[in-house]
Amino acid sequence: MNGEERFELEDKNVSNYADEINKRRTFAIISHPDAGKTTLTEKFLLYGGAINLAGSVKGKATARHAVSDWMEIEKERGISVTSSVLQFEYDGFCINILDTPGHQDFSEDTYRTLMAADSAVMVIDASKGVEAQTRKLFKVCVMRHIPIFTFINKLDRDANDTFELLDEIEKELGIATCPVNWPIGSGKSFKGVYERAGQCVITYSDTEKGTKEGHATRIPITEEELLTEYIGEAGRTQLFDEIELLDGASAEYDLELIRAGELTPVFFGSALTNFGVEIFLQHFLKMTTPPLPRKADIGLIDPVEHDFSAFVFKIQANMNKAHRDRVAFMRICSGRFDAGAEVKHVQGGKVMRLSQPQQIMADERKILSEAYAGDIIGVFDPGIFSIGDTICMPKEQFEYEGIPTFAPEHFARVRQVDTMKRKQFVKGITQIAQEGAIQIFQEFHTGLEEIIVGVVGVLQFDVLQYRLENEYNVEIKLEHLPYEHIRWIENQDLDLDKLTGTSDMKKIKDLKGNPLLLFVNQWSIGMTVERNEGLILSEFGRN
Ligand code: G4P
Repeated sequence: MNGEERFELEDKNVSNYADEINKRRTFAIISHPDAGKTTLTEKFLLYGGAINLAGSVKGKATARHAVSDWMEIEKERGISVTSSVLQFEYDGFCINILDTPGHQDFSEDTYRTLMAADSAVMVIDASKGVEAQTRKLFKVCVMRHIPIFTFINKLDRDANDTFELLDEIEKELGIATCPVNWPIGSGKSFKGVYERAGQCVITYSDTEKGTKEGHATRIPITEEELLTEYIGEAGRTQLFDEIELLDGASAEYDLELIRAGELTPVFFGSALTNFGVEIFLQHFLKMTTPPLPRKADIGLIDPVEHDFSAFVFKIQANMNKAHRDRVAFMRICSGRFDAGAEVKHVQGGKVMRLSQPQQIMADERKILSEAYAGDIIGVFDPGIFSIGDTICMPKEQFEYEGIPTFAPEHFARVRQVDTMKRKQFVKGITQIAQEGAIQIFQEFHTGLEEIIVGVVGVLQFDVLQYRLENEYNVEIKLEHLPYEHIRWIENQDLDLDKLTGTSDMKKIKDLKGNPLLLFVNQWSIGMTVERNEGLILSEFGRN
């Protein structure tokens, strides 16, 4: 990695760091590939002055490059390369954006990233509506009750009917919507948005991929003549009709429900032409909270009152091929992190200094000397951390709630080519599983002779194969299995031999011996639940 840079914050004697924590906003952006996540992120950074020109983060050209080069990079490093945290300042806030890897490298990491975010911004393509990947990520947000903010993008292109879009979000995702603004037309006839709270129209100005928001005009809707001049007679009539419908039909703005993740505020805009982005950012920052207390086994840990604590949400191997190192990503939950201070790794029972704490940006690492609750740091991991581990001050002892195991959707049976290398094989596959790149299971009645691997994104199979060969010198063959759904069994006292499912159902167990079921389709899951009274199946496992 190039670009290593050491920087020190000038003021080392910050006795009261509450201000630092309170100005932090940490969120993830979720979307289906191509909805405009990268473009929107780029525009955010532009407002924060983090970059000078739109397109310099990872424009579509580089994104494409990344896709086509993916195998090579992935093979070289054995990891997914697209994980990063972007930090920038805007209007007195310190904003951390967590990138959720999409496309082919969609994996459990994408889900885990959401565990480290305080809220999520959901980008939806106005001509496509809710798409598959959004649906999956959304489920995780709901499970965690994290606030979701919706940005409906690409209004400069012909869009679906606005009411239908909202209806789709409500029906498909099961969350009430509350439009903060409302689009006037779309595509060639896109004229801007109506801001409900201010009762004014903000006119659209296409800045042609410009680097700043265009010169929008604000027109109060009471100024009918001026309004007609900008949006036309027909546009005005339609807008008034829609406002009336909207006021009658949509959920009322309720900040408490938004913060509980039960109501999503909806914004409309066009990231590409830079319209509606700053409007979104301003509202968003007002509605979101700084880092909130987090649940641990001793109760809630307050971000400001409590000393430094963090938890590991992701482990990435071999970012630096020469050193075969692992980086553990931690979300700081409370207090101030001081690189020189000793901390305790609770699960390992060890007091230590975190080695080479870094802020991992898109393609560079900065060595950090301090960071605050809300921030994400990456530290060198000599192989001691596991996902979900807690780090706190040496005098303390508590554990944050574990990170659930997410349901893999692709399964394969793994066979060694050379059975003499059994030991290396088991060691390798167990270590890779411990990093969280894959999940391993066993046949229900046998042991580790037959290993079944489950992954969230298919490319993880290639990563597994490559890493076993290169790091453990073990060649494997993968036999893909037809299962697409896995369910954990919640019932503690179930006699598994008596459990009856459909003929294509398969019983397996995880490394701890917990029983699981594999299914080919949703229908089989329904049938199995029907045939076994009282059976409780879950999509998320516990670590
Ligand atoms: P992603 O990260 O969610 O995958 O999406 P990304 O931002 O890369 O955007 C996907 C495509 O959609 C890109 O076009 C991008 O320019 C375009 N796009 C993003 N926001 C808007 C918008 O508000 N309006 C319109 N019309 N297009 C938008 P591309 O053709 O694939 O790449 P490029 O050649 O334009 O760079």
